[in-house]
Amino acid sequence: MGQPSHARKDQDWWRSAVIYQVYVRSFADGDGDGTGDLPGVRARLPYLARLGVDALWFNPWYLSPMRDGGYDVADYRAIDPAFGTLAEAEKLIAEATGLGIRTIIDIVPNHVSDQHPWFRAALAGGPERALFHFRPGRGRHGELPPNDWQSQFGGPAWTRVGDGDWYLHLFAPEQPDLNWAEPAVRREHEDILRFWFERGVAGVRIDSAALLAKDPRLPDFVEGRDPHPYVDRDELHAVYRAWRAIADEYGAVFVGEVWLPDTERFARYLRPDELHTAFNFSFMTCPWDAASLRTSIDETLAEHAPVGAPATWVLCNHDVTRTVTRYGRADTGFDFATKAFGTPTDLALGTRRARAAALLSLALPGAVYVYQGEELGLPEADIPVDRIQDPMYLRSGGTDPGRDGCRVPLPWAAEAPFAGFGSREEPWLPQPVGWTSYAVDRQQNAPDSMLTLYREAIRLRPAFGSAPLTWLPAPDGVLAFARAEGVTCVVNLADAPVDLPAHTRLLLGSGPLDTTGRLPKDTAVWLLA
Ligand code: NOJ
Repeated sequence: MGQPSHARKDQDWWRSAVIYQVYVRSFADGDGDGTGDLPGVRARLPYLARLGVDALWFNPWYLSPMRDGGYDVADYRAIDPAFGTLAEAEKLIAEATGLGIRTIIDIVPNHVSDQHPWFRAALAGGPERALFHFRPGRGRHGELPPNDWQSQFGGPAWTRVGDGDWYLHLFAPEQPDLNWAEPAVRREHEDILRFWFERGVAGVRIDSAALLAKDPRLPDFVEGRDPHPYVDRDELHAVYRAWRAIADEYGAVFVGEVWLPDTERFARYLRPDELHTAFNFSFMTCPWDAASLRTSIDETLAEHAPVGAPATWVLCNHDVTRTVTRYGRADTGFDFATKAFGTPTDLALGTRRARAAALLSLALPGAVYVYQGEELGLPEADIPVDRIQDPMYLRSGGTDPGRDGCRVPLPWAAEAPFAGFGSREEPWLPQPVGWTSYAVDRQQNAPDSMLTLYREAIRLRPAFGSAPLTWLPAPDGVLAFARAEGVTCVVNLADAPVDLPAHTRLLLGSGPLDTTGRLPKDTAVWLLA
């Protein structure tokens, strides 16, 4: 069935790529210290090649105090010693390239670590202060924050320093926001891009991409007032146009982390001289419901069409509840605000739906992201509260479970210590009881495993070609569409089994058909006419 997708090497690879997200800290621990690392990834490259992915997106791997899983960067040109060295990163990029796999890195432009030399110099009273947002406080003695902005991790977005001024941090206090009105900030990031493109990196994921620019007056937030003081401000587009020109010199691509409900505003980031792609959070947060999914798919395709950018399809990532868990709950959508400890979950149901969702997303036109462990069907883990490290938990006063439950070290070998993740020391987050049943070595030769399904789907996916999607008539609760001549995807989200359209061959199914050849509930198939 066509070429394996990793063999397609044209410059438009990113338009239809399968991109695997590597959360290095939890992927594979090469040196046995309990933390995943670059030698661990290098040793597992054959696994990723066999999975058939086109590219790897690495969460931040730079020098970092790890107050937010590496999204607090102290040096953008150095690898954190817990992960390895720059030389190892270079080897990894080269070895992956040799296997036909491209490397995408994660750049964090909105903020730095409070240990970054610029911030340390700013605290010492140097001119670097201008590179951040320092302001006197309000109140008689400056004891109140300069405005009412809230941190995305809870609490005020301001922290006071020794001399009485406050600095802005949209995330944790250890992540001071940069002042993007300063040319030095722009120059520095343009230089960081070149640094990594020179090392063979093929793409960059842009963290918090719509938050960089701030209203210089730093006004209080007023619901509904346009423009927003820090989300999606027009000045940002000039930044990304300059980045695009640099990426074009190297043939590299961008994927933006752009959370914006307004589809027209979202599409502006994808104009031909800006970012190549952006994450599709509408699809990722969509409940398991045929009408909602169809609307999400239609809106996604409609918003991308005018700017000529491909859609991306994402089921989960390192910030959200794992797919099999989310789909096994009464509320199958995702919303940070509704995350709670102890939500009842039917994992068998969630897994069945996640299998169907895998075939759905891999059949859609555009690029697909697979978050490590998704291909193993890992559920969200319950982390003992005294082991949780995520600032989202810590800063919520312990009410929000945070994101560590989707960041648990991977199980590779059922019989090995720590399920084959590492060797000597216990993993940085505990693996729950039963984790071994998801191990790669348990799944790799099992015909019905999640891993086998992902491998087969990625292998067969080129059959859909680059043709657009055409919806086919289908009963309520059923999604059916054709792509290339004669290749269709049917997903049954209705309550009862449904008849399949006429076909000559069943290419792949997320589960068996029933005894009368009908497609059961929460099951998807790929058919050849
Ligand atoms: C989005 C990242 O995905 C998340 O993990 C991080 O906490 C924030 N941006 C802040 O960098």
